[in-house]
Amino acid sequence: MSKTKTVFFCRNCGAQSLKWIGKCPSCGEWNTYDEEIVERDKDQKWNRQAEKRQSKPKLISEIDYNQDLRIDTQNNELNRVLGGGLVPGSLILVGGEPGIGKSTLMLQVALDIKNRKVLYVSGEESEQQIKMRAERISAKSNQCYILTETSTQNIFQQIAEITPDLLIIDSIQTLQTNLIDSSAGSISQIKECAAELQKFAKQSGTPVFLIGHITKDGNLAGPKLLEHMVDTVLQFEGDRNYGYRILRSVKNRFGSTSELGIYEMQGTGLREVSNPSEILLSQRDENLSGTAISATIEGLRPMLIETQALVSSAAYGTPQRSATGFETKRLGMLLAVLEKRHGFRLGVKDVFLNIAGGIRVDDPAIDLAVVCAILSSNEDIAIDPKDCFAAEVGLSGEIRPVNRIEQRIAEADKLGFGRIFISKYNTKGLEKMKFNIEIISVSNVEQVFTKLFG
Ligand code: TYD
Ligand code: MG
Repeated sequence: MSKTKTVFFCRNCGAQSLKWIGKCPSCGEWNTYDEEIVERDKDQKWNRQAEKRQSKPKLISEIDYNQDLRIDTQNNELNRVLGGGLVPGSLILVGGEPGIGKSTLMLQVALDIKNRKVLYVSGEESEQQIKMRAERISAKSNQCYILTETSTQNIFQQIAEITPDLLIIDSIQTLQTNLIDSSAGSISQIKECAAELQKFAKQSGTPVFLIGHITKDGNLAGPKLLEHMVDTVLQFEGDRNYGYRILRSVKNRFGSTSELGIYEMQGTGLREVSNPSEILLSQRDENLSGTAISATIEGLRPMLIETQALVSSAAYGTPQRSATGFETKRLGMLLAVLEKRHGFRLGVKDVFLNIAGGIRVDDPAIDLAVVCAILSSNEDIAIDPKDCFAAEVGLSGEIRPVNRIEQRIAEADKLGFGRIFISKYNTKGLEKMKFNIEIISVSNVEQVFTKLFG
């Protein structure tokens, strides 16, 4: 007999009930009852273990802290996104759409990590399927255990036996604790399972990766509170039509959230892309109109990205604006600036914008390249492929400065670009002599237009 006691609470007003009810008798809301544990079965094995280790308050000055504590995952992109490696005892949620490569990434980490016992728990695939995938990515490890199990109680029993140094759960939505009756994937199950794993991670100091699915609208399936419980939320994303995948950190208690990891999905697993500029500049022989290259920075890493625009007369009444990898609203704003401030008649044109490689860019420094790509397509004059751009465009058409300009210039210089267009407000203290690249400072869109198209 289980001695665990659960009660249903109304999410809205906090009223309790022993049974699930559809309409809350106290506040009148519908479908607000969630099951929660109020008393745990003390005889459970892992509970007894946990009870032994009682924590005491410590002076902050007496707490040991060692910078080298971070664990090297042998995956540079992942290390960077995590903020320099894996922190012991951290709980990391890896979210992404189905088929994007979450299981592949995690299995690669499980097989590549050095001198650490890994337990990979899968509730989605059979042992044979995982083995097949491991053969495909042809990484070998004799310290990686595979467990196909969904009950947390059984998982904790196996953990007690194997004592892994890293735990991977694929996926949190398939887990089930027998303390709660509701089915796997329901809010109360996810919450309780994540709470058990969080407790395990903190008490044992073992890092835990949770794989989580994403719903159609891009949110992590399950309650938002999962994001609050974990230390780090990583998002694995990419365009299915391209082989590139981006690992983004959405929340990180131990590092910056602006870091990006870039991978390429190949027949033999995920390859780390350490020099993103190479892939983000599409290879082209001919010089075509409508492309401009921007020197962006994502996280700490500078990247040169190609933007492509196509401007054509609207075939139907309402002109279309469509953008991949760039915010459509921002595109609308830039078009309005060009129309209102500089008299380009774009209001009657269809405008399509595409960022090469299917990646999404948040850096405002891409603005100028977007504007130039649009103007180049509109004029049907190609931009010299040795030109690149790094500046934000303001509402009055002014060219605004961006951060870390030197790093951007250095990267463009390294890749052999001839000229870089930057804001004139960015030139203060800039040592132009240091670079081979010609630095052109501009203050409004008209100046850029004259310099490019005469
Ligand atoms: P998977 O890791 O199963 O995705 P998720 O766990 O996020 O659902 O990845 C599945 C996709 O990756 C599938 O479409 C096949 C592809 N893939 C490769 O292209 N190469 C490989 O080496 C592997 C293992 C998978
Ligand atoms: Mg999977």
